[in-house]
Amino acid sequence: MKFGYFDDQAKEYVITTPDTPLPWINYLGTQDFFSLISNTCGGYSFYKDAKLLRITRYRYNNIPVDSNGKYYYIHDGEDIWNPGTMPSKTPVDSYECHHGIGYSRFLSSKNGLKADLLAFVPVNTSCEINKLTLTNTTDKPKTFSLFSYVEFCLWNAVDDSTNFQRNLSIGEVEIEGSTIYHKTEYRERRKHYSFFSVNCPVDGYDTSRDAFLGHNNGNAFPDAVKKNKAGNSVASGWYPIASHQINLTLSAGESRDLVFVLGYSENPQDQKFIAPNVIRKDGAHKILEQFQTTQQVDAAFAELNAYWSKLLSRYHVESKDENVNRMANIWNQYQCMVTFNMSRSASYYESGTGRGMGFRDSCQDLLGFVHLIPERARERILDIAATQFEDGSAYHQYQPLTKKGNLDIGSGFNDDPLWLIAAVSAYLKETGDFSILNEIVDFDNQKEKAAPLYEHLRRSFEYTSTHLGPHKLPLIGRADWNDCLNLNCFSTEPGEPFQTTGPSEGPVAESVFIAGMFVKYGKEFAQISRHMGDNETAAKAEQEVDAMYQAVLDAGWDGEWFLRAYDAQSQKIGSKECKEGQIFIEPQGFCVMAGIGVKEGLAEKALDSVKEHLDTKYGIMILQPAYTQYYLNLGEISSYPPGYKENAGIFCHNNPWVSIAETVIGRGNRAFEIYKKTCPSYIENISEIHCTEPYVYSQMVAGADAVFHGQAKNSWLTGTAAWTFCNLSQAILGVQPSYDGLCINPCIPEGFGDFKLTRTFRDAVYHIEVKNPDNVQKGVKKVNVDGKEHEGCLIPFEEGKKEYHVTVYMG
Ligand code: BGC
Ligand code: NOJ
Repeated sequence: MKFGYFDDQAKEYVITTPDTPLPWINYLGTQDFFSLISNTCGGYSFYKDAKLLRITRYRYNNIPVDSNGKYYYIHDGEDIWNPGTMPSKTPVDSYECHHGIGYSRFLSSKNGLKADLLAFVPVNTSCEINKLTLTNTTDKPKTFSLFSYVEFCLWNAVDDSTNFQRNLSIGEVEIEGSTIYHKTEYRERRKHYSFFSVNCPVDGYDTSRDAFLGHNNGNAFPDAVKKNKAGNSVASGWYPIASHQINLTLSAGESRDLVFVLGYSENPQDQKFIAPNVIRKDGAHKILEQFQTTQQVDAAFAELNAYWSKLLSRYHVESKDENVNRMANIWNQYQCMVTFNMSRSASYYESGTGRGMGFRDSCQDLLGFVHLIPERARERILDIAATQFEDGSAYHQYQPLTKKGNLDIGSGFNDDPLWLIAAVSAYLKETGDFSILNEIVDFDNQKEKAAPLYEHLRRSFEYTSTHLGPHKLPLIGRADWNDCLNLNCFSTEPGEPFQTTGPSEGPVAESVFIAGMFVKYGKEFAQISRHMGDNETAAKAEQEVDAMYQAVLDAGWDGEWFLRAYDAQSQKIGSKECKEGQIFIEPQGFCVMAGIGVKEGLAEKALDSVKEHLDTKYGIMILQPAYTQYYLNLGEISSYPPGYKENAGIFCHNNPWVSIAETVIGRGNRAFEIYKKTCPSYIENISEIHCTEPYVYSQMVAGADAVFHGQAKNSWLTGTAAWTFCNLSQAILGVQPSYDGLCINPCIPEGFGDFKLTRTFRDAVYHIEVKNPDNVQKGVKKVNVDGKEHEGCLIPFEEGKKEYHVTVYMG
């Protein structure tokens, strides 16, 4: 069943009912000011950091789940209704929510009044615009009143939801014409404030939540709206809000635009001349004057659309498969931008107060983003690397505002260091900008401990190669990519909860997955070293990679598939000898991607085993058989009920690893079959089972052991976005950036047909045509570049050349 449809022309998903299985959300904002917005107008805004600078309040775990947002109430004498239907839930005569790229639009109507609400964050401005167009579709004049409503958050979202003894006394606002300023904390900090304004005179306002809603009332039918009379309340403490009342009469057929702006402003450092406690409003004025008229707003919206069209055009495919085109050209790239911006901080499943930027997460997000805005990827790499410790290990997370490592979580995830090599090598391949390696970057954010980025990579590599266990495999530490595989928490007493904060290096637990990473990214590191002219390091790295390759063959192969790990007692994890958890997905995908076992014929076996033991119609599960009880020597993984999350859920993130691995051995049919199973657009028709948004990936789909097999959770913020984009764009469609140029080597299913692709690469545009006359899955028999025959799949990048016309003949 579907709850809407894709409009590819407009790059939108159009939701046709407010009753989607879960809130289906979108993100507004590209750089600093961000909003989450659901298909019923729920959500919240923040500036840079969803924890530290939260602008509007949102209550996770609310009843109903999604019942706070930027709401507009219309009281037409008969009914009180909202354009997105929440929070009144008054049935409307028509409803559509168009989630587009960086904007959402709500079209609804009731009693002859049409509302068209467009929400977006302009490029380079710290505000969200809500343009509300109201049209009287009857043949008589219509009189009604409109009330806006946002609830302010007192900045630090954790403090806001815990420290009531203080917070209920500190809320302050200021009112200036149609602008309501929220200035809590301004008294001592005088740094920042937010404001909510409308571009017309108002008939009243409210800034106290209690005054607006009425005592003991929810927000569905506020007292002020029912009475049609705002209280002109001025909040002092308690719960500051901003609400405008605007009384309107529209003649038959008449339309009226109202522009609401929710903005954020920071004062310049120099505070001397302002009166204490009075907001210095010039920052707000500067923003507001840009959005006073419909023309200004329309121009800003056009600019946003042009910005996105240009970005998305950097990778554009035309194949005969509309799902592939839609995902590659629109939604998958869009999600990559969102995951790059948010990391794992703010979604409807991530509260914005828990996790900030993840070291491994952001490094992987970058893989799907680097082609869009390489300059921002560069900046991000330097931020991430600055949180690395001198020994090469890393803070697992950092806060986006301060860019400082998160002490509560600390370090000890032994895969983290190698992801830095993955990110930097992707950046180097995309841009050819080797100068980044000479950038001086702090260790642990301390200036006195700085070294060139290249040295950071060397320490990443060395951290792994110097932390090996008895089987010469890398120590897993607290966990590797699989956060829940806590093999060193055996010291926990039975009956006590697992400890994920155990010692950073377990006594002996080892990870075959990290071994696969080490081989894959160790080879990249060696290539980077050669490019830097550091042949000695390169040669040494190659030797260590070879040794690791051998260690995996010697101690990491279980007969039919790769082992997952050894626990702290040197017992096998992910082996046919185990009672449960006999086979895991991660080492199969990663070892084969690294090339391990390909020439030995093991790769095929491992991937066949994945198909035999882990496959379902909704995707590949992370492990089988599921753990049916909690095991002290395994930790959090066995704390989940079977079929959910890391305990045999379909973790979408590593499905593309297996798909890419299939392309390594040339099996295009199977690679594509895997791609399709989790691809949102392909499964749009089962939205009632899948439940999350059909235009983006979710972290997890419940596995075969789960009660709700096929049901997804944790949409949007997942490494799945980047990895499926890498899979589709590089492995399946085969356009692979490399250090010296663009390599084209597709691996497609039979019957996929010819396709065309445009790819911007280092400021040159490549017009690529792939022809497959023999209908093969992999193999290139001829390449033509600018009309001339060309040797091999790699098309070297030539400085200054702006366009390439390439035809690739598979066969
Ligand atoms: C989840 C993981 C997640 C981790 C983050 C665990 O409970 O299962 O998926 O990475 O928390 O801390
Ligand atoms: C989600 C986390 O964000 C990611 O870092 C981790 O690799 C996966 N869960 C698997 O545990």
